[in-house]
Amino acid sequence: MATIKVNGTEHRFDGDPDTPLLWVLRDELGLTGTKYGCGIAQCGVCTVHVDGTASRACITPVSAVEGRAVTTIEGLSADGDHPLQVAWRALNVSQCGYCQTGQIMQAADLLGSVPNPTDADIDAAMQGNLCRCGTYTRVRAAIKQAAAQGGSR
Ligand code: FES
Ligand code: FES
Repeated sequence: MATIKVNGTEHRFDGDPDTPLLWVLRDELGLTGTKYGCGIAQCGVCTVHVDGTASRACITPVSAVEGRAVTTIEGLSADGDHPLQVAWRALNVSQCGYCQTGQIMQAADLLGSVPNPTDADIDAAMQGNLCRCGTYTRVRAAIKQAAAQGGSR
């Protein structure tokens, strides 16, 4: 049995400790904002924070987050007003939307360590987050806008 803390609330999971965190979040806790894409850490759509660091939930066994703080897109802000979320809406970043929660969670990690990222910083941090709709230019612009608004909070 694993006890995990997600978005500030503790939960107990009685299943296989090797179960990927992604399935615990989606299927057990109903936190479906975190998406499934490749399942092998190659696309970034399953990105969450573990102790504040962007992590791929598809390859993270639930046992690995025991005693650690997991944050999903649902917990990034109380009411969708994180500077990244505000900028994402203002610039209409999303197209189909599937990759976008992962993009935002990765970007939040970036702004936490680099408050005013350059284009190169953004490209380096975001290169593992793929978007089949090609929203990369707007993603970059939104990260810069959020940074200008004090992005990491
Ligand atoms: S589903 Fe996790 S990186 Fe693609
Ligand atoms: S917005 Fe469609 S995959 Fe990124």
